[in-house]
Amino acid sequence: MKHLIDLTEWTKPELEKVFNYALAMKAHPEADFKPLKGKSVALYFEKPSLRTRVSFDIGIQELGGNTTVVEQFMAGIGTRESVHDVAHTLNGFVDAMVCRMFNHTVLHELRQWSDMTIINALTDFSHPCQIMADVLTLKELGLWKEGLVMTWVGDPNNVLQSWLEMALFYPITINISSPDIPTEFESWFQNPAMKDRIFWIHDPKEAVSVADMVYVDTWISMGQEAEAEARLEKYKDYSVNKELSGFMPEHAVMLHCLPAKRGQEVDEYTMEKFKSVIFRESENRLHVQKAIMAYLLSPVETEAFYQEHAVKY
Ligand code: CP
Repeated sequence: MKHLIDLTEWTKPELEKVFNYALAMKAHPEADFKPLKGKSVALYFEKPSLRTRVSFDIGIQELGGNTTVVEQFMAGIGTRESVHDVAHTLNGFVDAMVCRMFNHTVLHELRQWSDMTIINALTDFSHPCQIMADVLTLKELGLWKEGLVMTWVGDPNNVLQSWLEMALFYPITINISSPDIPTEFESWFQNPAMKDRIFWIHDPKEAVSVADMVYVDTWISMGQEAEAEARLEKYKDYSVNKELSGFMPEHAVMLHCLPAKRGQEVDEYTMEKFKSVIFRESENRLHVQKAIMAYLLSPVETEAFYQEHAVKY
């Protein structure tokens, strides 16, 4: 059974298939494609969410499936019940489980006992659905091309991890502009697959000036609230504000996975300047996740749909 836990478990042809499915499904809402008819999906959340929760919930309904939300305080995975017992219980109820969790290891443990398709909807380690929506957005805008230079500005986090995993499949360059490189990212600089394609550029002005795409995320991820004051101080020179975004090339765009803390990692001016890109990126969570679920849960029916509705981009 195929899951979406780490992008490294997928292949480039599989990723391309899902991007193509997403574009076809987005372009043809009139087709009323229902590959999840008769299937049920549990949405499990240990952390807050707007985009992920709503886009999966609506996406499942649009694909004809049933959806139920399970909160950590109700299910208590690993506290009220073992991961093993939760998996065995849900195996009897649903076809897939979309999980937003703190601990990435628990996701792997869940998969071990699961007859359900498991989809990673963010852990402390990674956020593959977000990056798939980002790539879909760049494809739509005609910006996804060989040699693309992305500059990550600020705190290296789970979103950057998924971007680096995506870069294993596509020849893009990733610059990281941050006061330091956390130990968990150091191995990427020794990875032969990223040779001459990953750089630490300490100075944010220099880093954004060579970018085709600048990527920004909050400096205080969910679960790091107690460190807020220290993090605001650490990253204060890495705010993509009017002055810093003025160093971006004319053609470059900025992406933000949201939620944004205007006045911290980005300012009002820069958010407004790139809002059409950023909210397209947000909307594309719906389209790419529909394609992911259709591919994982009804691959034959989805390929048949695509053969009739393929779009060029
Ligand atoms: N980008 C993202 O995952 O948004 P939410 O936390 O609102 O789901």
